[in-house]
Amino acid sequence: MSEITFALAKGRLGDKIIDMLNKAGLTDVEFDADTRKLVIYSKDERYAFFLSKPSDVPTFVDYGIADIGVVGKDTILEENRDITEILDLGFGKCRMCVAGPKDAEAILNSGRTIRVATKYPNIAKEYFYKTNRSCEIIKLNGSVELGPVVGLSDVIVDIVESGKTLKENGLDVLEVVEPLSARLIVNNASLKVKYEEIGKIVDALRKLVEE
Ligand code: PRP
Repeated sequence: MSEITFALAKGRLGDKIIDMLNKAGLTDVEFDADTRKLVIYSKDERYAFFLSKPSDVPTFVDYGIADIGVVGKDTILEENRDITEILDLGFGKCRMCVAGPKDAEAILNSGRTIRVATKYPNIAKEYFYKTNRSCEIIKLNGSVELGPVVGLSDVIVDIVESGKTLKENGLDVLEVVEPLSARLIVNNASLKVKYEEIGKIVDALRKLVEE
C-alpha cells in the first residue's frame, strides 16, 4: 500500500503539482497528460495519486481516502469540508468577483433582492449575507456570464482570471469577493498519524513556492 495518497484535480492544477513534487525530488512520476487512468503511482509506489473532478478533491480528503489534496481556494470555500488548508501553492491565481453590467452597481446598493447567477451558490450566499444584502441565487453550471447578458440575473459571482470573458461580454468586475489560488489541503487524522511524511512534503513544496 502507498505511504501517502493524493487527490488531484485532473488538468492544469494536477499537472503542475506533479511537476513540483518531481522537481522537489519527492517523486518520480511519469505522467501522461492524455491518460484515462484515474489512479497513478510514483515508480517506487510510495505515492498514489487519485485524479478526480476538482470539486470532489475535498471530499476524498475529508473521508481520509486521500491524505493530501490540491485544489483551488474557490472549491475549498464552496465545498466547506472538514479539512486543513496547509499551504498556498501560489499558482492558479485569480479572483472570485461579483460582476455585471456597469449599471448593475446601482442594484447592488439599492436594498432590493439581487438576482445572482453562479456556479458557486454557497460562496455567493455567504458573501451577500455577510454584506447585509438579500439575494436570490440562480445556480448555473457554466458560461455564467450569460446570466446578466440575457437577463436571467442582475449580476454573477464567478472566477475572473484574465478578465477576457467579462470584457467580451460587456461586463465588469463590480466587487471582489476573495483572491484565489491553488492550495494544499490535508486530512485532519493524517496530519497527526503521518506527521513526519506530510511535513516533509509541505516543507519541500513551501521551499519551491518561496524560490
Ligand atoms: C471560468 C470562469 C469564467 C472564466 C474566467 O470558466 O467561470 O467564465 O473562466 O476566465 P477569464 O477571466 O480568463 O476570461 P471556465 O473556463 O471554467 O468555463 P465555464 O464557464 O464553462 O465553467
